[in-house]
Amino acid sequence: MSTDPSSGTLSNLLHENRRFEPPAELAAHANVTAEAYAEAEADRDAFWAKAAERLTWSQKWDRVLDWDNPPFAKWFVGGRLNAAYNCVDRHVEAGHGDRIAIHWVGEPLEDTRDLTYADLKDEVSRAANALTDLGVETGDRVAIYMPMIPEAVIAMLACARIGAPHTVVFGGFSAEALASRIEDCGAMVVITSDGGYRRGAPSSLKPAVDEARSIAAKNGHQVEKVLVVRRTGQEVDWDDAVDVWWHDVVASASPEHTPEAFDAEHPLFVMYTSGTTGKPKGILHTTGGYLVGTSYTHWEVFDLKPETDVYWCSADIGWITGHSYIVYGPLANGATQVLYEGTPDFPERGRWWDVIEQHKVTIFYTAPTAIRSFMKQGREIPDARDLSSLRLLGSVGEPINPEAYVWYREVVGGGRTPVVDTWWQTETGMIMISPLPGVTAGKPGSAMTPLPAIGAEVVNDEGAAVPKGSGGYLVLTQPWPAMLRTIWGDDQRYVDTYWARFKDQGYYFAGDGAKKDEDGDLWVLGRVDDVMNVSGHRLSTTEIESALVSHPYVAEAAVVGATDADTGQAVVAYVILREDAVQDLGADGGEDIAKVLSDHVRKEIGPIAKPRQIMIVPELPKTRSGKIMRRLLRDVAEHRAVGDTTTLADSSIMELISAGKAQST
Ligand code: PRX
Repeated sequence: MSTDPSSGTLSNLLHENRRFEPPAELAAHANVTAEAYAEAEADRDAFWAKAAERLTWSQKWDRVLDWDNPPFAKWFVGGRLNAAYNCVDRHVEAGHGDRIAIHWVGEPLEDTRDLTYADLKDEVSRAANALTDLGVETGDRVAIYMPMIPEAVIAMLACARIGAPHTVVFGGFSAEALASRIEDCGAMVVITSDGGYRRGAPSSLKPAVDEARSIAAKNGHQVEKVLVVRRTGQEVDWDDAVDVWWHDVVASASPEHTPEAFDAEHPLFVMYTSGTTGKPKGILHTTGGYLVGTSYTHWEVFDLKPETDVYWCSADIGWITGHSYIVYGPLANGATQVLYEGTPDFPERGRWWDVIEQHKVTIFYTAPTAIRSFMKQGREIPDARDLSSLRLLGSVGEPINPEAYVWYREVVGGGRTPVVDTWWQTETGMIMISPLPGVTAGKPGSAMTPLPAIGAEVVNDEGAAVPKGSGGYLVLTQPWPAMLRTIWGDDQRYVDTYWARFKDQGYYFAGDGAKKDEDGDLWVLGRVDDVMNVSGHRLSTTEIESALVSHPYVAEAAVVGATDADTGQAVVAYVILREDAVQDLGADGGEDIAKVLSDHVRKEIGPIAKPRQIMIVPELPKTRSGKIMRRLLRDVAEHRAVGDTTTLADSSIMELISAGKAQST
């Protein structure tokens, strides 16, 4: 894709010169002060050891970091702990059993539930006992495919408690996508529900699990048990040999369960994410370092005061943000949080602001795409609610444009709240670049600086740091506790994907382009590889191309992420039809072609990957060596003059493509 990593649309925004100082009150009582940078600089290992001491270990580590065999890291070597014990039991033991852990807000308005830490301890213990009774042993993988209900969090913690790595698959993925993840990590049990609520209607999940199970079986992998939460009461097909109701086996299980301590490097979970090839990567996170990194940064970046704050992260637990900043980080810190099931605008557009008002949310963490859609709806909607409880706002998932940042701060935050723009990835596990709310004077649109003890740099093609005022590739220069350990079952792919590009320097290549401004602050511009970011969801161009090509009508396909005012980027697909399809349907594929192909992508991957636009074209722009020049296709999709075509094998092709008929889906 782009050979110039700094050619992002945000480049012109680097002239932004507004600054927002931390509120004096927050700065005076901040969990982390400017000294943290110096402390980390003086002794990085000591810094992380201190962060690790915030957790409860049954055996202390002998060595903070083993980086003897890079890029394979071991953190807190020799240490032993249980992640679920740290997220739940220890708070009860410390006398906080009555503290609300989760204010669950379901989609139907009256559907709410509060769970204290004591409740959570009982539920997680019951679920852990039930999983053991189903035959799940330490090391076995469990897939979780659920809506945003408390049982999803309980299921994850129950897996962690017995040392069974979970893989949570976002409910918006199709049966095929679920099957490929189940097969790749060899999950023997799937935890799901009959369905969840979306925009007022029950939306089923269990049928996709049934289908995924049969796809996996055809490929030789047997799922042994499916544990099903009854949420919507929808009719479900039932296989007595496999399916088990949660309310039968979990409710009747004992609430007593003694957590076993696992090695710090015991696998905690696998989270699949899109890469530059068609096959999603199973990102492996392990127990000790991940829990240290997420709990410390949650406390540091959000300035969490567990006794008084009410925290709300609007992500889905099917993504890394939900893992790190709904489940593991906040619960390890003993936070009180809102867990929300629905969409932002159902049953009405002020729904989220009502939730903030009702629960007196103090810290709110969401994605720019949501902020932009609220901006479009107008400030009257949040203005009509009392949002004065908010004291800190966070943003994640994609670059936040200064306009959205300022609106978020002024309208939602009443001009009082710092905005922390947090850059990180599924692979990093924890926030890496962000302002510190009690220290940093924030600039709208900039993620500012690496957190204390984090090494981040912007480098050129040769791996040399670029001067201030220049752009390049974002790299991480030091190992960090929550770093991915490998790609599940594929160490070589781990090395090749992240560590080969700047091998000589030993840098982790993040796949993002970034600029360093005149002050040295960082502006993340977006991906420089074949990965798109649609509404903060990470999608692979190659994966969608493979899905399109698997349709019998399609000879060839090229997918690009085109800039979109609402979703950041949108999927635009260029498709060459097969000759027999042209004969049957006509050269443009006929009226329904876009819908047919888009439904096919939906089935293969899920609704989130659905193209915004499908263009039927006679040819694709290729170099003489046959490589598709997606840069030119992006020019067309973004209605720009087409750039340099001199390396095309046939330069007349772009005229044909530009004249092509776009079909919206
Ligand atoms: O391109 C960056 C973008 O999201 C990518 C990581 O996606 P994922 O693994 O799905 O994790 C998303 C949630 C952590 C990054 O490579 N990204 C994430 N946060 C930001 C961002 N881009 C700009 N600014 C951010 N704050």
